[in-house]
Amino acid sequence: MPSRTSDTSDVLVVGGGIIGLVTAWRAAQRGLATAVVDPAPGGGAAQVAAGMLAAVTELHYGEETLLALNLRSARRYPEFAAELTEASGRDLGYRRCGTLAVALDADDRAHLRELHALQQRCGLESQWLSGRECRRLEPMLAPGVRGGLRVDGDHQIDPRRLAAALLAACERAGVVFHRVWAERLDVAGGRATGVTTADGTALAAGRVVLAGGSLSGRLAGVPREVLPPVRPVKGQVLRLTVPRRLAPFLSRTVRAVVRGGQVYLVPRENGELVVGATSEELGWDTTVTAGGVYELLRDAHELVPGITELPLTETRAGLRPGSPDNAPLLGPSGLDGLLLATGHHRNGVLLTPVTGDVMGQLLGDGELPQEARPFTPQRFGAVLMEQPA
Ligand code: GLY
Repeated sequence: MPSRTSDTSDVLVVGGGIIGLVTAWRAAQRGLATAVVDPAPGGGAAQVAAGMLAAVTELHYGEETLLALNLRSARRYPEFAAELTEASGRDLGYRRCGTLAVALDADDRAHLRELHALQQRCGLESQWLSGRECRRLEPMLAPGVRGGLRVDGDHQIDPRRLAAALLAACERAGVVFHRVWAERLDVAGGRATGVTTADGTALAAGRVVLAGGSLSGRLAGVPREVLPPVRPVKGQVLRLTVPRRLAPFLSRTVRAVVRGGQVYLVPRENGELVVGATSEELGWDTTVTAGGVYELLRDAHELVPGITELPLTETRAGLRPGSPDNAPLLGPSGLDGLLLATGHHRNGVLLTPVTGDVMGQLLGDGELPQEARPFTPQRFGAVLMEQPA
């Protein structure tokens, strides 16, 4: 279809989730004419995510390289949150409340002991507590709790507020929003030159940043050999409300592995209690299922029996942008003019500050910072995408 109009920017970000917005904000702060193309900027997985900043409690074997990036971003959070609050005039619900990971039976306890040993080998701060000590910290915990790990450095933020604040900061910094789907990447002379939108408009740009979350592997026109190997990983999440008379219900994030599945309860200062999350490889399905809700409530109830008293106010499913090694893809794509900021999987909210720093420096100075070098898309070689139906 022929293009109707043309609009030019230095940087065009495809995707207005928190990763696209932080990239756009940082680019605009560097004086680059920046635009975002997304039908509903500020939406995406951040509307579902719980917002745990869990670099230490979500440590996994074999992910030590990712740990370094996660820790760097966690350390950036206080300054980042203060700067964004100032720039947007909005509160982010950033809460340095700490996290308690508990065990309900002997298997969970063994699992948690192993996590503790791994954390210690990585030089991370966490403290082993008996069941009684756990309940002293969080009296709503089930009497059967067998022990736990206290991690005071794992905090939380409200991702919906984070997204709204990034949107406001972008608007104040002069970022232009095209509220429409990007239909295809435009390539000319072996270089990305912009995108054509669903309404046929050509948006030209010096550089295009693909930050489309789980949809990043689906943009038409991206040469197959540089298409990011990102897949959707479904997470179902519940929101409950703690009535004033029951507050404080929990004073920090409480989590556990129950029958092999993760369950976490994230208490906000405004009384919201977020319970998550399933992890399902079901393609583009975002149905909230009876089974998903049942499992989350069953496991959360084993952990904190009193949750059955609370109003259930929302059930929702979102799609994490999973990558083959669970780490993000940051930097040049292999096609001139096309950069990637995607594949953040379970850590999008945590990695928002460092992603903004990395992409800002790359777009502003042309240099990929040292901390991002292990995460260039080239580490996967030419992974051909097989998209789920
Ligand atoms: N980081 C939490 C989750 O992805 O469920």
